[in-house]
Amino acid sequence: PQPGWVVEADAVVVGSGIAGLTAALELRTRVPRVLLVTKDTLASGSTVWAQGGVAAALDPTDSPVAHLQDTLVAGVGLCDPRAVEVLVTEGPARVRELVARGAVFDRGSDGELSLTREGGHHADRIAHAGGDATGAEISRALVAQIEAVRDDPGIEVIEHALVLDVLTGPAGPDGRPGRACGVTLHVIGEGSRDGVGAALGRAVVLATGGIGQVYRSSTNPVQATGDGIAAALRAGATLGDVEFVQFHPTVLWLGSGVKGQLTLVSEAVRGEGALLLDTDGVRFMPDVHPMAELAPRDVVAKAILQRMAETGSDHVWLDARHLGADFLRRRFPTIHERLSDHGIDMTTELIPVAPAQHYHSGGVVTDIVGRTTVPGLYAAGEVACTGVHGANRLASNSLLEGLVFAHRAARHIAGAVASGALPATDPEERPGDAALVAAASRARVQRIATDGPGVLRSGDGLSRAVTALAAVPTDAHLRVDDGRRLAAPQVAEWETTNIHQVATVLTAAALAREESRGGHVRTDFPQRDDERWRLRLELAVDPDGA
Ligand code: SIN
Repeated sequence: PQPGWVVEADAVVVGSGIAGLTAALELRTRVPRVLLVTKDTLASGSTVWAQGGVAAALDPTDSPVAHLQDTLVAGVGLCDPRAVEVLVTEGPARVRELVARGAVFDRGSDGELSLTREGGHHADRIAHAGGDATGAEISRALVAQIEAVRDDPGIEVIEHALVLDVLTGPAGPDGRPGRACGVTLHVIGEGSRDGVGAALGRAVVLATGGIGQVYRSSTNPVQATGDGIAAALRAGATLGDVEFVQFHPTVLWLGSGVKGQLTLVSEAVRGEGALLLDTDGVRFMPDVHPMAELAPRDVVAKAILQRMAETGSDHVWLDARHLGADFLRRRFPTIHERLSDHGIDMTTELIPVAPAQHYHSGGVVTDIVGRTTVPGLYAAGEVACTGVHGANRLASNSLLEGLVFAHRAARHIAGAVASGALPATDPEERPGDAALVAAASRARVQRIATDGPGVLRSGDGLSRAVTALAAVPTDAHLRVDDGRRLAAPQVAEWETTNIHQVATVLTAAALAREESRGGHVRTDFPQRDDERWRLRLELAVDPDGA
């Protein structure tokens, strides 16, 4: 669509989770003009829902090397060791900066940060806040910092701004994607910035979060519709590891008919000693892995699915009762309250849980300073594929990744703006209307993704999903109820289009990978195959041919 208004900045940051807020705060003091845009309000998105915490080697008995080792093991051979090294060595300083920015973490009686353990970690290294409300506290602190500078002429914030497309300059002679020079946005009700507009900048940072809404149910909030990954794909950026979707082992199970955002029961509950029991009351994890309930997340999720199949049940139980009512209420106030809302008292009752979509380990491929394969386009946080997660993200490495790589991207952009390495570029006109998927197709796409590249995958199921996704009409701009052309697509059409595009690439990658590894479980290829598949699958589309 043609933009009705234009705003210019040096750097445009898209998204206001931990990565977007960190990038904007770092850039604000380093480049003359920063624009921060976010789809909903500054405090919405996935970060505020994060329960467990941030992993970093903060205890004197722990070390970045030990954290590196646990991260590589969880990633099942597909992590980029260089990116992991950056993550674990810079992580502690970034967490301390977060404290300096005002985030209040839980502390012990000695005044030191209270550190807990989660699946796959061999040390207590998870810093947490408000017991189990870590993301909410981090978001509060970072949003407060942005609010404090909102009158500063060097930063502009636009809320209720959905990113549509990455604007690019002419493609290189070698067919390489053109330089990113801004984004188009659809803004709802922000005074002069209303409707479709363009935000131009020398650099664009995508920090748009995850893809949970591709599935029928997820722990992710409604905003997680894969907008950044889809926009990057359309701009010609390379995506990687997209088949690796993480299914969290312990999500509150309320029946198969329950859709939308589900209640997470943090891994930290197991970290404090809660046990998994099958529906016959038998503890099963000690027979599966030496770390039992604290094995890496993919191992626990797979074991739960297996036990559910063996017992003919649709859930297992999480038993935290022995941890004591006072402790549980104090340590897990949010979870205790959310479960109470569903009539479950975790201090006296078993909690029904089953695996559900939680995180996207893959995304837009970046280097260790956040650069994607499109010049001028950076990505940080869940939307990115930095290589730190490989086939399965280690618990509580997600907030850390957002912090570390958003910080790096911002510093890199600042240096490049100062040196003139990020020239201002005019966007190239893109001909024609975008192919859009009608909002009415959303549930259909979610059903296909859930049944195809879901928690358990098979070649047949994935092939059916490829066909079914290809059959979803992508001409919504021409099809409205009365048959007339839709004058102006709305947020729901763009989101559904993004969900459809992400589901399509994810299904293709899941079909291609003929093995089981990390979050990718193929019933027809149950074993890991290092000989053929110890590699990252990358894909990109030609933006002009797409
Ligand atoms: C949790 O609290 O279990 C989630 C933490 C994470 O996703 O890393």
